This record gives sequence, C-alpha cells and structure tokens, in this order.
Amino acid sequence: METQQTDALDVERIREDFPILQREFDGTQLVYLDNAATTQTPEQVVETICDYYRNYNANVHRGIHHLSQEASVAYEEAHDRLAEFVGASGEREEMVFTKNTTESENLVAYAWGLEELGPGDEVVLTEMEHHASLVTWQQLGKKTGADVKYIPVDERGYLDMDAAADLITDDTKMVSAVHVSNTLGTVNPVGELADLAHDHDAYIFVDGAQAVPNRPVDVEAIDADFYAFSGHKMAGPTGIGCLYGKKHLLEEMEPYLYGGSMIRKVTYEDSTWEDLPWKFEAGTPVIAQGVALAAAVDYLEDIGMERIQRHEERLAEYAYDRLTEEGDVDIYGPPGDDRGGLVSFNVDGVHAHDLSSIVNDHAVAIRAGDHCTQPLHDKLGVAASARASFYLYNTREEVDKLVEAVDDARQLFAQ
Ligand SMILES: Cc1ncc(COP(=O)(O)O)c(C=O)c1O
Repeated sequence: METQQTDALDVERIREDFPILQREFDGTQLVYLDNAATTQTPEQVVETICDYYRNYNANVHRGIHHLSQEASVAYEEAHDRLAEFVGASGEREEMVFTKNTTESENLVAYAWGLEELGPGDEVVLTEMEHHASLVTWQQLGKKTGADVKYIPVDERGYLDMDAAADLITDDTKMVSAVHVSNTLGTVNPVGELADLAHDHDAYIFVDGAQAVPNRPVDVEAIDADFYAFSGHKMAGPTGIGCLYGKKHLLEEMEPYLYGGSMIRKVTYEDSTWEDLPWKFEAGTPVIAQGVALAAAVDYLEDIGMERIQRHEERLAEYAYDRLTEEGDVDIYGPPGDDRGGLVSFNVDGVHAHDLSSIVNDHAVAIRAGDHCTQPLHDKLGVAASARASFYLYNTREEVDKLVEAVDDARQLFAQ
C-alpha cells in the first residue's frame, strides 16, 4: 500500500498546469479522454513557445546574428534532449525532427525502402498497425514489388509470436510493428520482434506513438533500428514528430526531401548533403516546436515516466472493470491489468458514433471510429468502436463520469 501512496501522482497539482481541463460546456466541466488522439499541453510548454517567439525567434543555421545563434543552439540541443529521453546514445545525429509519426514512417519507407526493396523481398507488419505504418508500407510494396505480410493478432488481442517466427524469414527486409496499439491497448514485445528481425538480417521500425508519451522507452535496449513518435501525444506541440535511427543506417540512406538546409555543397550539376540529422530536415525546420517538445520532455521526466505509466495503467484497469460491470460491453484487446492506458469498446445496441455523441452531451470527450485501424476493425467484425484514452491528468472520478454517460446512452437506446 505504501508504495502505491508514494508512487501515486499528485493529479490535482498536475491539473493546475492544464487550464484547458477547467473548460465547461453548458455548465459541465470537460472530461478529456481523447489522449490517444492528442494530449493537452501544460503551461510550461505553452510558456516555452511564447518565450521562443517573444525573445529569440529566428531562422536556424543561417544567420550569424545573436537571435539566430540562440535559436540554433536551442533547436540543436532539443535534438540531444529527445535522443537522451529515448536512450539514443548517438545524440542529435540519431534524432531527426519530422512533422509527426506518419512522416517518420514515410521518411524511412521512401529513403530506405525505395532503394532497398524489390520483388522477392518482404516487409512484415502486424495486423494491429496504425494506417501510418500499414498504408505506407503497403503502398511502398506496390511501388517496389515487395510483398507485405501480417503477423496475426489472436482472440485476446496479442500478437501470435509463433506465427511471427514463421513469417520473418531471410526474405524479410523490414519488420514494422506498433509498440502500444492505439486500438487494443496491447503492449507488443518489440524487443523480441527486433531479435527475430535481426536473426534474419532484417531491420525493425517501431511505431512508438502510443508508448513514448507514457512509459520509459529505451531504443537501444529494444535494439530498434528506427523508432518514431509524435510530439502532440506527449504534452508537446502539434507539428513535430521524431524519428530515431541508428547512425550507420541514417548515414547510408539518401535524403527524403531535398532543398535548403540539408545540403553541404551545391553546383548546377550536383549536390552533397549536410551531416546528420540535418540531411533529413530540408527547409526551415520545426524550430519553435522542437524547443517546446524538449520542454515537454522536461515536464514529463520531472514527474517520472514510470509513475505516469502506472497511473495510466491503473486508470485503464479501473475503466475496464467499471465499463464491464454491465454484461453488454465488449472491450477489445487484452485484460484490464495488461494493457496501455486506453480502452476501445462497443455497447450492445448503441453505435459507437451515437455513444460518443451522447457522452459528449455530458462533456466527456472520447473518440469514435476506426482509430486509423480499419483492417483490424474488419477483423474484430465491427465498423467502429468508442475509445477512451487516459493521461497523467485524468482521475478515477473522470472514469466514473464516463461510465455514467455510457449508462445514459444505454438507457436512451433501451427505450
Ligand atoms: C499507434 C499510432 N501510430 C501512428 C499514429 C499517427 O500519429 P500522427 O498522426 O501524429 O502522425 C498514431 C496516431 O493516432 C498512433 O496512435
């Protein structure tokens, strides 16, 4: 019990950093449970953005004036901070800033895949991939002639690792797997998948969009070759994502976008490329966002990633238990005590969109739809599901409000 007390988050204190949580709709206070889509931004991060624009806004790498130097140092150091946060010892050289996880996926698919894949090669995905990974590799397969295969998800929402061991062969060139499923909440054994890939001289790309925000992640312990995540899902700003890549791989890859900032020498005939990571950051990069994302990392680490993880897991388990009190709710994915901080579900007789609309009347924000996992929803045999997802500022009382709102929907549709 004592450990539970000491590692519990002071959520009331944390909520003071997020004034948006005080918003009311028709006199009812917002309950924000759409964190897997995007998280809210603490004052400390908002302040960092304001400070940047108020005091040292300038383009980076291009000027020798004071402002440009200050902005350049802050922007470059933000890469080191993000690299350190996910355990990349190569620091900034292994940390590329992109627009989001989706762009990080595309960067590797195009810069690496177009060169390296061809007929006879295979890319192995999981059946629970987000469209960011699934559509990208699927389309790259069509362009290059490589086959795309899927590791099945079993009835409980776990990857079939025996099938994975059969599917990953010497023909496999890339395995792309989601770390924490944004629909099932499954936490995948990405380290084991990395070992399987490496046993066959293949690479692994890990989609960490739902992992980095809420648990300690060490890309080197996983032995990921590439690892991607988004700033806006981890208390940071929109418009920035990250791509970790092993230095030797990023060095070998051709650029993804061409233009200013990513070149070293240009003639009318040819060009050479800047050092890492700038080779992959063409044009004016995400300066304010980068500096602000580093501030978000400071914020999260001050609270503690293990504590954030436990907080979310407890909320997910509580939500799982409360939502299944009545026998008419299907929750997809692993049991309540073995999942990341989200629950996707359907209530018998209530369409997920109707449910989320009625829940919204109670000022409870959840998501309805396929959560960018259409093939997985097809496999589950449903067109859509409702999803409640938690973050460090959510409380059990908010889960209770969700359950009350769901009950209201149930009553309405029972009439
Ligand atoms: C698992 C997963 N991967 C990728 C993405 C795509 O993130 P973004 O829209 O920031 O590119 C999401 C966002 O919903 C996600 O949950």
